[in-house]
Amino acid sequence: MTSTAAPHADMPNDLDSFWMPFTANRAFKKNPRMISRAKDMHYYAPDGRAILDGTAGLWCANAGHNRPKIVAAIQAQAAELDFAPTFQFGHPKVFQLASRVAALAPDGLDQVFFANSGSEAVDSALKIALAYHNVRGDGQRTRLIGRERGYHGVGFGGISVGGMSPNRKFFGALLAGVDHLPHTYNREHQAFTKGEPAWGAHLADELERIVALHDASTIAAIIVEPMAGSTGVLPPPVGYLQRLRAICDKYGLLLIFDEVITGFGRLGAAFASERFGVTPDMICFAKGITSGSVPMGGVVVRKSIYDAFMKGPEHGIEFFHGYTYSGHPLAAAAGLATLDLYAEEGLFARAKSLEPFWAEAVHSLKGLPNVLDIRTIGLVAAIDLASKPDAVGKRAYDALNHAFFESGLMVRTAGDSLVLTPPLVISEAQIGEVVEKTARAINAVA
Ligand SMILES: Cc1ncc(COP(=O)(O)O)c(C=O)c1O
Repeated sequence: MTSTAAPHADMPNDLDSFWMPFTANRAFKKNPRMISRAKDMHYYAPDGRAILDGTAGLWCANAGHNRPKIVAAIQAQAAELDFAPTFQFGHPKVFQLASRVAALAPDGLDQVFFANSGSEAVDSALKIALAYHNVRGDGQRTRLIGRERGYHGVGFGGISVGGMSPNRKFFGALLAGVDHLPHTYNREHQAFTKGEPAWGAHLADELERIVALHDASTIAAIIVEPMAGSTGVLPPPVGYLQRLRAICDKYGLLLIFDEVITGFGRLGAAFASERFGVTPDMICFAKGITSGSVPMGGVVVRKSIYDAFMKGPEHGIEFFHGYTYSGHPLAAAAGLATLDLYAEEGLFARAKSLEPFWAEAVHSLKGLPNVLDIRTIGLVAAIDLASKPDAVGKRAYDALNHAFFESGLMVRTAGDSLVLTPPLVISEAQIGEVVEKTARAINAVA
């Protein structure tokens, strides 16, 4: 902005100033995919054209868009209490929401630490792990173990334990003392699987190798997504998470599940840990907690971890970490209304009961041009397309554009995979529409 005149609300809509995150800025600004309104299962372009939301925004609008109950809760909260600090003060709704989230989490995970995003949730969990060992007099446990192809947001902690090279390679040496498990995908053994692949549990034993290399006494925690999402949907092999849990127990390592996208019904249960029958020591959440309506994230923590911090003089702060907006009143109000809606409409159970229909429908795309693999689990699907020679990611990007502009469908891409994660309120007819529009896009980029 070079002009000294005050900017006006009626300025022409110049797309230049906004540096868009995780976006091909130049391509977008030539041909913007603009969204100006949403309702239930649909987005609307400024010209009124409806776009079916095949991605719940960014894996977050699990209840669909602009639900009146959530809108009303946010409006009422803004009028009643816009902001109150949660450092040394509190407001009622944040305590209510913590109890509600703890009640949804597996037994033993009773304490909730709030943040504003998945990235902050992850960094909070990693810091809790390090500090936990420290307050117990086990402060040499400083190593953090992530996994190849993992995504844990964009903070320095998250990219350090994450396993996506474009997110890491520009940012220096990252956190010291981090190691990675191998990822769990193998097309030869797993192609076209519905749900958890049978092959791959043995990959958890790589944690034994890492422990042997570094010694358990130096390792604080392991963090994994129970189902890796951002690198193209990699459901855990049958028995894999159980094996990780057993190895963590054997060596006293904390197990953190990053459930930023799997939390709040995506896999047909409140958390993926419930679906897979494995209880970690901490769960990171975000996105679905408010159905995307107000930013919020957090960590559900085992009570014994919290208890370890509760010592020293009572006036003393026990954990030196938090965000100005941890448990913001608008987010807390939105979260409570969202959890009410999930319960009233039975949306987690709905996702579970729709899973076989969803899987059947999406797997019908097998055989279309360039389709190399399809994976489905819960209300999630990834369709791997063959990359164009010398233009990795282009085929999926062209399919995304085709779906948006020609068919009115929002899809996501991960490399040359198309990823579908619709709101949990989707109907069977709309699942049919998602699949039909995806097929058109795949054919268009053949
Ligand atoms: C598993 C996982 N962790 C963390 C994040 C980061 O969340 P945010 O973008 O809210 O920081 C994401 C975002 O997609 C995610 O999928």
